[in-house]
Amino acid sequence: MQAAAATQPSQSTAPRSAKGSAKSARAVWATLYDRRMPQLKSVASKVFLDGMNAIGLAADDVPTLEGVNEKLVPRTGWRAVEAAGFLPAKDFFESLAQRRFPTVTRVRSEEELDYTPEPDIFHDVFGHVPMHAHPVFADFLQRFGEVAARATTETARQRLTRLFWFTVEFGLIREKGCVKVYGSGLISSHGECAHSLSEDCLRRPFDLEDVMAQSFRHDEMQPVLFVIEDYWQLFDAIERAERMLMCGALDHPLENAVVEKHGRGCCDLV
Ligand SMILES: [Fe+2]
Repeated sequence: MQAAAATQPSQSTAPRSAKGSAKSARAVWATLYDRRMPQLKSVASKVFLDGMNAIGLAADDVPTLEGVNEKLVPRTGWRAVEAAGFLPAKDFFESLAQRRFPTVTRVRSEEELDYTPEPDIFHDVFGHVPMHAHPVFADFLQRFGEVAARATTETARQRLTRLFWFTVEFGLIREKGCVKVYGSGLISSHGECAHSLSEDCLRRPFDLEDVMAQSFRHDEMQPVLFVIEDYWQLFDAIERAERMLMCGALDHPLENAVVEKHGRGCCDLV
């Protein structure tokens, strides 16, 4: 599910049927899988790559939620559950709090190979679900759902949505001295992934306040992203965000950090 699910109203209540035949769906899945894996083998977090193996994703067939859950549930208790499209924010957060990840099973069409504006199985299952096999990330995501579901003001929800965006969707991590991708938007998109590791992206050390002060747009390459040092940092961040929510600190007027591009030097910040 895309992060927009946390902020946009429901756009659909009826399941969409997969476009095209099962044969064409398999061809699209295989094409996307084969396109992404060469890059991901060198730039994806080990946690993502291990998760892929754990839940049994492969190029030769479109995964089913039943097949994925058979392997995922015994590991962390997370489950991928079918969704028709974007959910209302509160429903989405409450589902996360129950370790249920709303998942679209639509396979994009051949015409949408490079970009689809709506969630699809490649973003949701390939991009998101492998991370749910990791115990610390799994606990973080559940705690995120619990905390975000308790937000009662739009300002607090926006701050928490920024935390979701810059971690679950567009997160980077340092592993053995190298910056790797773990966010689903980077995992599932060759262009976004390449951009995130290029000189055009300002990579900053993860800091909860900085993340919640950083605005973003859905419709452009991300000019700034945040790098964690390990997955415990996410868990610590959501625990702290909860304390801030409870004392009203997330209700202060929103700041919008100005992104300054530093050219070649930007990569030296992390
Ligand atoms: Fe997503």
